[in-house]
Formats: sequence, C-alpha cells, structure tokens
Amino acid sequence: MQTRILVNLLNMKKLRTLWHKTDSETGIQVIDQRQLPHQFITEDLHTVAEVFYAIREMVVRGAPLIGATAAYGVYFACLEAEKASNPDVYFAECIQKLRDSRPTAVNLFWAIDRQLRAIEAGGTWAEKAQLARQSADLIVEEDVEICRKIGEQGLPIIEKIYQDKKGERVNILTHCNAGMLGCIEWGTATSPIYQAHQKGIPVHVWVDETRPRNQGASLTAWELSQAGIPHTVIVDNAGGHLMQHGFVDMAIVGTDRTTRQGDVANKIGTYLKALAAKDNDVPFYVALPSTTIDWTIRDGLKEIPIEERTEAEVKFIPGWSVEHEKMLNVRLTPPDSPAANYGFDVTPARLVTALITERGICEANEEGMLSLFPEEKK
Ligand code: MRU
Repeated sequence: MQTRILVNLLNMKKLRTLWHKTDSETGIQVIDQRQLPHQFITEDLHTVAEVFYAIREMVVRGAPLIGATAAYGVYFACLEAEKASNPDVYFAECIQKLRDSRPTAVNLFWAIDRQLRAIEAGGTWAEKAQLARQSADLIVEEDVEICRKIGEQGLPIIEKIYQDKKGERVNILTHCNAGMLGCIEWGTATSPIYQAHQKGIPVHVWVDETRPRNQGASLTAWELSQAGIPHTVIVDNAGGHLMQHGFVDMAIVGTDRTTRQGDVANKIGTYLKALAAKDNDVPFYVALPSTTIDWTIRDGLKEIPIEERTEAEVKFIPGWSVEHEKMLNVRLTPPDSPAANYGFDVTPARLVTALITERGICEANEEGMLSLFPEEKK
C-alpha cells in the first residue's frame, strides 16, 4: 500500500528511512526512494515477497538499509512459516529468496545470518518471530549509532582541511548516495559532512549525479538541500576536471563491501574518481560501518560479485515532467542499441587514502583494518 505524505521540513531531523507502522502491527514502512526528490511516498512492507521486491527494485537501497530491511524480511519469514504446511521448507525458501535479492552489498548477508543466529533460541515459530523482530530493531538502532560515530571519527579530517585553508570553505566530492537514505539516519560518507556543518564549518559538496539511477542527483542532493548544506550537482564526468583545477579538497564515498585487505566495492564510477583523485593528490576517503566489511575475502576484483542490472536503466531515464506534473520515463538511446549496466566497481586499496569506521580511521590494508578490529585476526 502506498501513502503520499508531505514532508514536514521541520521534522526532517527526526526522519528515518524505515519505521514500524504502529507498535502492534507487524508491518514496517519505508520511503519509496524511486520517487524522490519529486514525491515523498511511503510503502508498507508486511511480507517476504514485498521485502524482496523493495530490495530488488530499489524502493530501498544503500548497503546498511538493505541489511536492515532484510532483517525484517526474516521476521516476516517466521510469521509466514508459522502458517505454512511445511514451515521448515517454507522458511528456507524465504531466506534464499532474500539472499537472492541483490548480490553486492554484504550487509544483506550479514543481516540475514545475524537474524538466523538470533532466532535459534526460539522453540516455536511465534517465539522465533518475536526474537527476529527484537533483533531487527536492534540492527536499526545500532546502525544509527554506528553512523553517528563514523561522523565523529571523520569530522577531524574536515576540521584539519578547514584550518589549513585558513577558514575558507571545504569542498568535498561524493559519489552515489551514502547518506541517511542509504542507512537509517546520518549516512556514512555524509555523516562527517553533517557534523562539520552542525559545528559551523563551511562545507560545500560536489554531488556526482551517478548514472544510471542518479542516486546523487536525486537522493544526495535532496538530503543536502533538506539539511541546508551548500552543494552542487555535477555530471559524473566532471570530477576529474574539478580536481585538476583545485576545486576539490577531499573525496568521501560509501561502500557496499570492503575486503580484509581494504579493496572497496561501491557504485559504478567510484574507481574512476579514485584514479582522478590519486593523479591530483586529492585525499580519497571511504566511510563504512563494520557491517560492510567482508572478512572472508581479500581480493576485491576477483571475489566481490558485481551486480548487473537491466539495460532499461541505461536506455531510459525517469524524471518529473513539469508540463504534465507527474513522473515520466523517457528513452535516451536508439531502441535497438544494446546497453550494459554494471552496478558497482572495485576501487583497489592502493587508491584509498584511509577508511573511516565507527571505531576510528585506518589505512586501507589488512594491518590497518585489524588494528581497529583485532577480533578478526585469523
Ligand atoms: O545501488 P545502490 O543505490 O544500493 O548503491 C548504493 C551505494 O553504492 C552506496 O554508496 C553504498 O551502499 C553506501 S550507502 C551508505
């Protein structure tokens, strides 16, 4: 079920990307991110099929939010299994369906596995459902706190640039949407930016439009304008030019999966920004919650599955028709030209200046990462 609501700008600070419809109802509500920035429409999710659709079709997106939504998918799977003729088989099928929704963001698999551990203590499906709901709520609250801490850890980097520039504004380039819309609150890459803005540091964000789904132009720009943070949307190809001319002080992006040696998968085009940053001595930071680290793999190029999506996302573009006052989808390419749509690319660790996590900042290599997460030593 869809609900259209007007965004109360004064309530933006309290806005989250996922919430319970009411305490007594089982369903959750999310923002349909495909409609932003043109319309603020919420979507009710009550079933595994609805969660699968929401993740696959990018009603919700961004690694931490995909994980949190899937966590409620496991809760719905328990509720549905209770009524199924063969609960164990039905539940296993639901879990596989959730795992198949999107391949790259490791938070999806992390959240499902954590939920499976959480429900082990339940004797009945009703008990398992209750445990799954509690655990999903905890994942949500933890994500808020983790993202807030990422902001705290990253803030000194912006403060230092501000001091070095003797009070001039700090220009930060970001790619895709690694903001609150990709998480629950704060965001990852945007969290240090929000916290710098709150401290009165003049920041300005170069927002890559991020073809083909335009998460930068639609989502990051929307978030930043709601927060009153100066920003400029640029076409994806502009970043190198801006860096060559000294218009970018730092780049900061999010990630969908980071390996134990610090290779980073993020939205397609991130690698090219990292290359340009290296060539121009622009520091290139990646902000991530520990839930996005895949400790089981090393070589990102060989081991991270890269999502390939429908060619329609490249050949058509949705937008707001001012004339018709509604969303329209228009074709960009000749109808018979094939298109390829790789969702992510891998930025090798050598191009990453540092990783910003909730536990601190480290070099993008195994030693650096283990200095913050010693429990992951083998
Ligand atoms: O395809 P998307 O929109 O889910 O991709 C999102 C990204 O690549 C984000 O940068 C990443 O998930 C970090 S979100 C905090």
